[in-house]
Amino acid sequence: MNIIIGICGGIAAYKVPMLIRQLKKNGHQVQCVATRHALQFVTPLTLETLSQRSLYCDLFENSNEVSTEHIALKDWGDMIVVAPATANIIGKMAHGIADDALSTLLLAMSAKPRYVCPAMNSDMLHANATQRNIEQLRKDNVTIIESTTGELACGTTGDGRMAEPEDIYKHLIPCHIENLSGKKFLITAGPTYERIDSVRFIGNYSSGKMGYAVAEALAQKGANVILISGPTHLTTSHPNIHCQRIENAQEMYDAATAVFPSCNGAVLTAAVADYRPLHTADHKLKKRDDEGMTLQLVQNPDILAALGQSKGPNQLLAGFALETNDEIENARKKLVRKNLDFIVLNSLNDAGAGFGVDTNKVTFLFPDGKTIENPLKSKSAVAQDIANIIERMLSEQS
Ligand code: PMT
Repeated sequence: MNIIIGICGGIAAYKVPMLIRQLKKNGHQVQCVATRHALQFVTPLTLETLSQRSLYCDLFENSNEVSTEHIALKDWGDMIVVAPATANIIGKMAHGIADDALSTLLLAMSAKPRYVCPAMNSDMLHANATQRNIEQLRKDNVTIIESTTGELACGTTGDGRMAEPEDIYKHLIPCHIENLSGKKFLITAGPTYERIDSVRFIGNYSSGKMGYAVAEALAQKGANVILISGPTHLTTSHPNIHCQRIENAQEMYDAATAVFPSCNGAVLTAAVADYRPLHTADHKLKKRDDEGMTLQLVQNPDILAALGQSKGPNQLLAGFALETNDEIENARKKLVRKNLDFIVLNSLNDAGAGFGVDTNKVTFLFPDGKTIENPLKSKSAVAQDIANIIERMLSEQS
């Protein structure tokens, strides 16, 4: 998931690096947004090194990629957590005040999950104004991750210590409960390159983002994942994901059919070339004057259809359908023909869906005729939905 951490000026900011590490270790992307005061307690270098992303701090900073960075981040983030949350930011959120990068982003993200981890002196926390503001946030669907009792920075003991990073993590990622632990899944991702000669190939625009996100969502639920990846620039460091890199459809077929019998399920997201050149040259083909060139193509094996044929009664199989017309009808035909448990339809007619982008708009189709339409979401949120469907189907099987 794409998680934004909003950091305010409180001593508990020193715990934020541990939260970032835990989120990153579990395969999430983290973007830090800090108030000016937060940087008195934690350095930009620490936050940027751990999150591997530039810190966002000033609405009008020159280094912002676009002047509407907060709007770009609002779309990127699946959720935002404010840790530590001072009385000041809680007050601003409760009253819709947007006067710096963090408060502006929080207002812009009103429709997304927002979490607040209060951290302050007990008297400030229990002041009527703060309690009123916290109550207002609850009414506005903000989740308050309660502070705990203990030693406070001001030297007193009482309520107001920020929740520990591991407890914040459990609130943010309830699905970290490893319900798929002991299960093994096969994922295909990315494009295939079908070689013409030593410098040219037939390929497509797939970046691998959708497939890598599905692999990470399943791994976060504790599953072991074999990710068979076509050529992409993406990498994954999740300990549960074993990545096998291949170049062409035949190699993807060989790897997938070898692994599938030992898997509990598979989700094939790769954009596999349907055809490859009949002949390939091991040198660069020379251009010949005033002559065209004819490439003779032969069909590649359909990996998904082959897995569908060999699928056992306790194995789950899902595929994607990338369509441009008669989308539902075409996707349903693929669902049936390839013997799938569900298919994920994305259409190139939907803005923000399909190749290369960080978002997707999908419809799930099931063999009993059920369809679930979804709004535009980040690819990691779509991947979470897929992992949840798989988890539910497996638990219904057992
Ligand atoms: O990688 P991204 O940039 O994030 O883009 C994501 C995506 C657009 C590639 C992804 O969301 C997607 O739609 N993947 C499927 C693309 C595709 O090839 O669709 P299709 O309708 O042609 O194929 C149907 C299914 O059969 C797919 O699951 C495909 O992986 C599988 N297939 C197709 C042909 C083939 N020879 N073997 C296969 O396994």
